[in-house]
Amino acid sequence: RPNRPQNQSGPSRGQNPHSSLSLSTRKELYERDFPVYKQPVEVGCFSLDSERRFFNDGRQMRYYVEPDRSPNLDLRDGYKDRFIKRDDSVKEKLDHMLRWILANRSKLSARGATASSCDLDIDFVTWRGHLTKLLTAPYETREGWQLAVTRFRGTLYISEVETEAARRDQENRTERHEEMMYWGYKFEQYTCADTVHGRPDPGGVLNTNEAFCTVVQTRLADHRLLFSGEVDCRDKDPNAPAAPACYIELKTSAEICTPKQRSNFHRFKLLKWWAQSFLPGVPRVVAGFRDEEGVVVAVETFPISKISHLIKNEQNCWKPTVCMNFCSDFLSFVKHIATEDNPSVVYLLSWEPRRDVTFSVHRDSPYCFLPHWFVEEMTS
Ligand code: A3P
Ligand code: MG
Ligand code: MG
Repeated sequence: RPNRPQNQSGPSRGQNPHSSLSLSTRKELYERDFPVYKQPVEVGCFSLDSERRFFNDGRQMRYYVEPDRSPNLDLRDGYKDRFIKRDDSVKEKLDHMLRWILANRSKLSARGATASSCDLDIDFVTWRGHLTKLLTAPYETREGWQLAVTRFRGTLYISEVETEAARRDQENRTERHEEMMYWGYKFEQYTCADTVHGRPDPGGVLNTNEAFCTVVQTRLADHRLLFSGEVDCRDKDPNAPAAPACYIELKTSAEICTPKQRSNFHRFKLLKWWAQSFLPGVPRVVAGFRDEEGVVVAVETFPISKISHLIKNEQNCWKPTVCMNFCSDFLSFVKHIATEDNPSVVYLLSWEPRRDVTFSVHRDSPYCFLPHWFVEEMTS
């Protein structure tokens, strides 16, 4: 392919925003009509237990229990003595999703149950969290990312690679920051029960190995997507709509006391919250607002469909259409560059804020992420 120099001239309308070698994240380039995004359909779920073992079922699902009108939830409780933290130095890559795919292959191929050797009817397989990073990239000024892509039997698998900067940040976390990462999980423990008629058990041990994940299928423009994301809990009302519409995302955030804090909340936090839940079709976020000491003093529900109205009064605020169009163009870019169908080839897409997305190609390298057990079973 010719080494075409990249076009860096301004955002003239209708012009392809990317050359063959790089992709711009400038938000002005993505302000067009909202792309087609099909209502996500849940095709399955899986659970990870207290030892991070995979189960092809919903055993880790939890039920939301609304806290009192004027709550007083101490998020620091149990940090020292009732906390088992997942070992985040273990890089799980796409493994849990791949396990789910093998267990549910007949649901995913064009010819259904009769075609065990048939290819998946899907363009992209990834984690919801990786897509969230794509949606927010046009507005991200601090953290870059690296995404490894492998084309295998016609499907593109996308798995994140930790950047050097992220690894440094992780190593240099302060004790306060370490503790604050616990607070979000503690809020979940105060508001979730294990059974539909149960009560939350804030006196129990909090183990962040445990997770319930939904697997959804949808389409963004002409990209057929299959992705999975962790779900915090569901509405316990038996008349609640089917998943994913019954799911609830839980969040904590610092209490808002000044107009400046409100504006920052709208411009930065609501972007992340919207992107994370919009993707799998989770309709609401329940937010616990906490003071400096980590005590939740107010709880508020944010319907995802209302977030874009809430932020309209903010000056140069984020726009959902920019997020979705960038993601769609990124996926087109990936289809265009990741041409070799080979489980041991990785296309590494790298991005730093204020730069374009670039890529490099790696063969039989440590970036390879499709495990042998997956490749072999998909090939047989
Ligand atoms: P908060 O989001 O309330 O801070 P999630 O909200 O996605 O369900 O994640 C649950 C909690 O995990 C978060 O709660 C936070 O405490 C912790 N967490 C998730 N991602 C994190 C990250 N990138 N850095 C630090 N903490 C994180
Ligand atoms: Mg969660
Ligand atoms: Mg949450």
